[in-house]
Amino acid sequence: MIRVSRVISVISGKGGVGKTTLVSNLVVALSHLDKRVAVIDANITGANLSVHLGLVQYDNSLNDVLDGSIDLSGAMYRHGSGVDIIPASLTRLDGDMSGFKNVISNLVGYYDYVIIDVAAGIESEVYAAVSCSDAVMLVTTPELTAVSNVALALRLCHNMSKTVLGVVINQIHGDSFEIKSDAIGSFLDVPIIARIEDHKHVRESIAVGMPVVDYSPLSQPAKVISDIAQNLIEY
Ligand SMILES: Nc1ncnc2c1ncn2[C@@H]1O[C@H](COP(=O)(O)OP(=O)(O)OP(=O)(O)O)[C@@H](O)[C@H]1O
Ligand SMILES: [Mg+2]
Repeated sequence: MIRVSRVISVISGKGGVGKTTLVSNLVVALSHLDKRVAVIDANITGANLSVHLGLVQYDNSLNDVLDGSIDLSGAMYRHGSGVDIIPASLTRLDGDMSGFKNVISNLVGYYDYVIIDVAAGIESEVYAAVSCSDAVMLVTTPELTAVSNVALALRLCHNMSKTVLGVVINQIHGDSFEIKSDAIGSFLDVPIIARIEDHKHVRESIAVGMPVVDYSPLSQPAKVISDIAQNLIEY
């Protein structure tokens, strides 16, 4: 069966704001909605998507595919949810993203969604991922440092004429000094996709390598990310 794949990159500019947390949960939530999903760790020099999904030992990675030493099928691992994971290497320091577009084109047609977990910053790894995506999802925390960096990432998307789905505001504590969601949405001039609380169950779920949508499905982050998946399907 040929599928019309949607390729979506998740980017933030600033590191550590929750891209991989969002991606690992979103893909499992989409799979729970009976979608065929592949997820790829484009963070080839700072991998951790596999760890979030409980895949800690594997012989082959995207790095090996990119350097031509193995075929893509040799670096695909099936998660219990049915999601196909293409992890980046946890041990290699090198990597060249020039063949990344080719990797993505080999996935298109087989999946409903191809979700790309992107590196922090706005350098070549990010450019390579965004350039082969149909759309981009932004992630920030409600802090000035993160919001100013996500604005740079957004500018990269605009320069590349990419569709921006909107911004997910993550790790909200509700402190008075946090930037309000409405202010973030209007500053960036993009829709607010979701607001995710800072929640202990997210950290616990990562520690056991299980997405919070499975670990604690009734927690606020799990419910919100499941809603994002549902809305993506209806979009
Ligand atoms: N909603 C949340 N509640 C509590 N902790 C969270 C939440 N989201 C993320 N975290 C914490 O923040 C850490 C960093 O998250 P994550 O690895 O998803 O960020 P990232 O943007 O992918 O980082 P990098 O830029 O390094 O790839 C997680 O390991 C987790 O401890
Ligand atoms: Mg990450």
